[in-house]
Amino acid sequence: MTPRKREHGGQEETQKEQWDKEYKASQMLSPSNVPQVDVVRFTRWLKKSAKKAGEPIEIYEMSVLDLGSGTGRNSFYYAQQGATVTGYELSDTALKMAEKFARHGEQQITYRKQDIGAPYQLATGSIDIVLDITSSNSLSDKKREVYLSEVHRVLKPGGHFLVRALAKDGDSNAKALVAQNPGVDPDTYVHPDLGLVEKVFSRETFMQTYGSKFEILDLARVSHYNMVAGRKYKRNYWIAYLKKTDAKQASPQEAK
Ligand SMILES: C[S@@+](CC[C@H](N)C(=O)[O-])C[C@H]1O[C@@H](n2cnc3c(N)ncnc32)[C@H](O)[C@@H]1O
Repeated sequence: MTPRKREHGGQEETQKEQWDKEYKASQMLSPSNVPQVDVVRFTRWLKKSAKKAGEPIEIYEMSVLDLGSGTGRNSFYYAQQGATVTGYELSDTALKMAEKFARHGEQQITYRKQDIGAPYQLATGSIDIVLDITSSNSLSDKKREVYLSEVHRVLKPGGHFLVRALAKDGDSNAKALVAQNPGVDPDTYVHPDLGLVEKVFSRETFMQTYGSKFEILDLARVSHYNMVAGRKYKRNYWIAYLKKTDAKQASPQEAK
């Protein structure tokens, strides 16, 4: 029997409630102030490659947009190095936790309650680095288009975009979830424990989705063990280093 497709729970309210619930009584997240390891690696790589190219960068001169900033661990990491950071987040609970944490220092962080799949209140070409650390998984395909256009718009030419997204390739849990609890959009499922809609990408669909707008400098697949509701799951992720270059132009809609 083919499983019945459930409505995309991606309506902002449903997803917001699920994330709020998650931050209040976590089944998956372990709030920590330590930056995500791929953010640290990316930052080292960015500095090293800029130096190698003869155009060294200073993080304190950078503006950073952290999409789905959660409790702010990655925002804080950049702000501690002097960057000017904006964090967009849907969950009120996460925003409160992030703000409380940021108050302890002199960092320049602005947290905003903002859907990352809706137009951003930021000037065109104003951001050096955009982070999406496993935050856009729950966007519907329609909102994903807005997110991609908005990230492209707000990035400076030559600006970088770090994405950590759920992978389908080599991930038997992802494949089982899509088969057993499909969402409305292709390669989505409604997580049975968390109630969240999540999208998984094959290498091909990732490259189609992101490669149409950004130059893909690096795309690596990594594995990670997650604890959800007391159970351990092995999941695969794409870590992508993307760049806004002249070779990839804005879509006609975005250029209007
Ligand atoms: C897996 S957590 C990662 C948090 C953070 N990026 C980190 O690495 O610690 C995903 C975050 O994205 C937020 N989020 C999910 N959908 C969102 C949306 N449409 N707009 C804004 N934030 C969203 C969730 O509330 C959650 O805080």
